[in-house]
Amino acid sequence: MKGTSYLSFKVRLTVLLMAALVSTTFAGNFKNDMDITFGGARANILNGGQDLTLSLDQYSGSGFQSKHEYLFGRFDIQLKLVPGNSAGTVTTFYLSSQGAAHDEIDFEFLGNSSGNPYTIHTNVFAQGKGNKEQQFHLWFDPTAAFHTYTILWNSQRIIFLIDNIPIRVFSNNEASGVAFPKSQPMRVYASLWNADDWATQGGRVKTDWTKAPFTASYRNFNAIANMVVGGNQVPTSSGINDNQAWSSQGLDAAGRNRLRWVQSKHMIYNYCDDRNRFPNGLPTECKQSRFL
Ligand SMILES: *[C@@H]1O[C@H](CO)[C@@H](O)[C@H](O)[C@H]1NC(C)=O
Repeated sequence: MKGTSYLSFKVRLTVLLMAALVSTTFAGNFKNDMDITFGGARANILNGGQDLTLSLDQYSGSGFQSKHEYLFGRFDIQLKLVPGNSAGTVTTFYLSSQGAAHDEIDFEFLGNSSGNPYTIHTNVFAQGKGNKEQQFHLWFDPTAAFHTYTILWNSQRIIFLIDNIPIRVFSNNEASGVAFPKSQPMRVYASLWNADDWATQGGRVKTDWTKAPFTASYRNFNAIANMVVGGNQVPTSSGINDNQAWSSQGLDAAGRNRLRWVQSKHMIYNYCDDRNRFPNGLPTECKQSRFL
């Protein structure tokens, strides 16, 4: 009936406008957007949903995941890492789909003994296959203040950014037969856990439990993304505001310069340079420029 659909259109428009209005005032909200997945009271939502802390002790770490699934988007979170002796701890912020042939886009922050730098570990999985690691040391102390970590994911590329500086681009190379995550909706995940069997200096430096609990703080989660609700794609409220700029975003000349700076000065491992690991030849995507 015409009358009903007009009414529902008006209601939907009002809801959209309200959502757009709300998103300009409050970005993401941990209380509304996230569920605690493990660790119970070790995960704490504070300030009405503006802040979230995760902690780790001898018995458990903690974590959270987004209530919604997304297919493409820009995901920002501010993070202050475990200070002092963080050896053995791993803090994460990543996207992942479900199932064996899953897709995943990872930021992992590997702790270190006091005075030694964190390692920022990145990886991309497509249809269950990863092995695409790049690692970095940072140009600042990630435990002294909040910094913004971003995963931008569209159909052409994935860009990892720190404080809006691109540190890595993974391009869609399907034309050359390289799988790319583009059809499985993903949730946002974050966690703090113990991985002292491998994380710090190859597992040689263990977690010092006398320093527990270890705490990492998250702030200002924001997704400008296609939310998948009941099989349909719905832009998030801030997506409407942003006019979907992320969906075709690539690097401009300034972005490529900054990426070159990070990759030449701060990258400590690139799977594309690891010929020992791939004696039968480097993965196909490694033949392409990493600055596209
Ligand atoms: C810890 O510090 C050492 C020494 O500076 C460094 O080689 C290593 O990459 C750092 N990160 C981790 C996670 O071990």
